[in-house]
Amino acid sequence: MSHPDRFLLAGVMGWPVMHSRSPMLHNYWFEHYGLAGRYLPFAIKPEGLPAALRALAPLGFAGTNLTIPHKEAALAVVDEIDPPARRMGAISCVVVRPDGSLAGFNNDGYGFVYGILQQIPDWRADAGPAVVIGSGGGARAVVYSLAERGAREIRLVNRTFARAEGLAREFGAPIAALPWEERHDALADAAMLVNTTSQGMAGTPPLDLSLDRLPVSALVTDIVYIPLETPLLAAARKRGNRTVDGLGMLLHQARPAWKAWFNVDAEVTPELRRLVEATL
Ligand SMILES: NC(=O)c1ccc[n+]([C@@H]2O[C@H](COP(=O)([O-])OP(=O)(O)OC[C@H]3O[C@@H](n4cnc5c(N)ncnc54)[C@H](OP(=O)(O)O)[C@@H]3O)[C@@H](O)[C@H]2O)c1
Repeated sequence: MSHPDRFLLAGVMGWPVMHSRSPMLHNYWFEHYGLAGRYLPFAIKPEGLPAALRALAPLGFAGTNLTIPHKEAALAVVDEIDPPARRMGAISCVVVRPDGSLAGFNNDGYGFVYGILQQIPDWRADAGPAVVIGSGGGARAVVYSLAERGAREIRLVNRTFARAEGLAREFGAPIAALPWEERHDALADAAMLVNTTSQGMAGTPPLDLSLDRLPVSALVTDIVYIPLETPLLAAARKRGNRTVDGLGMLLHQARPAWKAWFNVDAEVTPELRRLVEATL
């Protein structure tokens, strides 16, 4: 662990940003590890992003997280892009290098994988076919990380087929795009189901998906975390499937940032999870 003789600073830039749970999460770690520092939310308009990012180094920030709508735009601003972030087409975390240059990373896929592993340590991406519903930003991180961890077959289903097709073409094997109408049948013999659409989030209808063909042995995960138990997860749990909610992804994506910013192996403790859970 590093103990630099300065006040440690990091933040999150978004527009809007005040809904973000990141300040609570990172400030918990400053306290937990007894480090003098602060993590701040910055409401940055889209046109202000380049100047805001360039201000990080002179202000002494270790870096920043990025949320909607800045994740893609930051690709054109930073000086260096980590290959996974380039592949995902989005930056979730910026690190200020000692020379003041900016490096862009994407830790969302890491968060997805370790969110699952914390709950199910023997989970394997190559256990059998995975069905991923959705093809937006969240899906890119999920599909990237599943492929990275050896998934041999990923069935990608999206309401707008062209988007799933584009992602499948871009990422290549093991991803196959399927039409929306085939989503129910796509669950046959699957080892894993992941919802990456916004359906099921508070204020939206549940995901329109029949689980009848899904084996009871399959793991069901949702990256939506408000509510913690989405209608999809509730239905899966009731029929006997193991489930993992989306909060783990949110919490675990912050760990590589702490390693890069402060050289601390920050832990997702039960206390931290309860703290954030209480705000959902
Ligand atoms: N746990 C985490 O850390 C984490 C991380 C990232 C995102 N998320 C959550 O994941 C969700 C998606 O985020 P995102 O950034 O991927 O959003 P996004 O890029 O806007 O993608 C939204 C996806 O939802 C689909 N969709 C929207 N309305 C639909 C409907 N009525 N029926 C079927 N599909 C529909 C879209 O399909 P079309 O292509 O047809 O529009 C698209 O695939 C959000 O709830 C977000 O909060 C959680």
